[in-house]
Amino acid sequence: MSVKTDFLVVGSGIAGMVYALKVAEHGSVYLISKTNLEETSTKYAQGGIAAVMYSPDTYDKHIEDTLKAGSLINNEEIVRITIKESTERVKELIEWGTHFDKDSSGRYNLAREGGHSEFRVLHHKDNTGFEIQRALTSKIKNHKNITVLENAFTIDLITQHHLGENVRRNGKNIECYGAYVLRDNNVETVLAKKTMIATGGIGNIYQTTTNPIIATGDGLAMAYRAKAIVENMEFIQFHPTSLFNPAEKPSFLITEAMRGSGAVLKTQNGKEFMYKYHELGSLAPRDIVARAIDNEMKLSGDEFVYLDPTSISEKEILDHFPGIYAKCLKQGIDITKDCIPVVPAAHYSCGGIKTDKFGCTSIKNLYASGEVASTGLHGANRLASNSLLEAAVFSHRAALDSVKGIENLRFKSNIPAWNAEGTVLNEEMILITQSKKELQSIMTNYVGIVRSNIRLKRALDRLQIIYQETEDLYDKSIISEEICELRNLINVAYLVIKFATIRKKSIGLHYSIDY
Ligand code: FAD
Ligand code: SIN
Repeated sequence: MSVKTDFLVVGSGIAGMVYALKVAEHGSVYLISKTNLEETSTKYAQGGIAAVMYSPDTYDKHIEDTLKAGSLINNEEIVRITIKESTERVKELIEWGTHFDKDSSGRYNLAREGGHSEFRVLHHKDNTGFEIQRALTSKIKNHKNITVLENAFTIDLITQHHLGENVRRNGKNIECYGAYVLRDNNVETVLAKKTMIATGGIGNIYQTTTNPIIATGDGLAMAYRAKAIVENMEFIQFHPTSLFNPAEKPSFLITEAMRGSGAVLKTQNGKEFMYKYHELGSLAPRDIVARAIDNEMKLSGDEFVYLDPTSISEKEILDHFPGIYAKCLKQGIDITKDCIPVVPAAHYSCGGIKTDKFGCTSIKNLYASGEVASTGLHGANRLASNSLLEAAVFSHRAALDSVKGIENLRFKSNIPAWNAEGTVLNEEMILITQSKKELQSIMTNYVGIVRSNIRLKRALDRLQIIYQETEDLYDKSIISEEICELRNLINVAYLVIKFATIRKKSIGLHYSIDY
């Protein structure tokens, strides 16, 4: 089956939805989610969205904090654009129905997180992402030009490759004509004039992650296979404080805003340790805090450290952190009195599909926004709460670019239907589930917070075996979401290892004992 739409949007988090709402004023939109519309990383965001709202904060201060966190290898033009457009984009989210907390004087109640020199994080209690997702989902569902496809798994982008032509990476001639989408066991050809990849993160290449199970790097892997330019994949951010509970997947996040409100990190025998590592103590940038915790756990042999929230008043805990309070209580921890056991967990991919200041990728008519994209905003490490902002800013800009001349574009003809010839049903799920576990073990043990040349080489050698086995299985199996996700995870893990191997220097989130 083949369908046509002006705009194909893969992903229903903040990046996909902001873009969809804007381009829908200019044509038909297909918005695709691989599970339900609401199941995204966006939904789980806790801390909030950073934006300059009131003095004494200024754009310059937010710009400086972003550059400092990114070890100055950010793209400065992109940093300036993002921060200077922050107020306007946040106001738009508010106009679209998002509620952020206010204080008794009616001003937005701003939180502070690691690396921020001012209080500038707008939030809705400790479930900001849920609130943003709610507001956007309701607008999307009511838009007459948007067709939502849930439980629709995008397999691959369609380019000249599918017409039998050879395309080169970095070649200027590659074009995107839409995507193959798996739905109800059928592969549909979705032809589009413009395609937006907004598929989010890659956390599930690791054993422990804050990311929901949908975060398997699909968009990144399919863009890489289509020969788009990808960058900065070595910069994987580990959030310092996820709730210690090895039985729980994904790991539950304890927002950095708690440290902004006064919570401090301590060893299991009650000693504060962060000032040994940075002058900002527990509020140092994330890369430094995560490495410090990793080091303290290695020194002590402990499986977790403590976050002590007891200096925060009970009223503030209940008003600002009700979700964390309820979650911890279920685990027998009363955070108005007790310390919280925490460990770092894979959280965010700073690199991704390279885009310009209008979200354009190196492939014609293909855009990327949100966590899957690399705009250059984050450099070597993302400043907390800058990612929801980045998605809003660049989805807006991508929409401005996408609608130009849309009425004059034609759909590509002669695109072949998905070729399933010679494939059979894979009856041994173990071949997929076990490879996924092996992959996550390789990445966790050899490509984690601290790396070395020998560990990276070992990771690549091990990955090669799983890669070949999976490609063979993929070629002969009837297509399924499980085999596609495994293949995507492997592609993305390969990129992280490759980029980490090429970076012969410790900087930001890439820390190697050899440099
Ligand atoms: P997502 O919101 O992850 O959406 C991805 C979409 O792509 C989903 O709809 C999914 O179904 C779809 N998709 C993926 N693959 C396919 C496929 N093959 N076919 C079809 N659809 C597909 N950032 C902040 O700025 N502030 C915070 O406070 C904050 N807190 C966070 C807390 C947690 C627990 C986590 C995990 C992240 C947090 N982040 C935060 C990061 C931020 O939430 C994400 O970077 C951001 O929400 C990503 O948005 P997105 O639109 O790019 O992707
Ligand atoms: C958090 O609330 O600590 C997460 C913020 C972020 O990832 O930006």
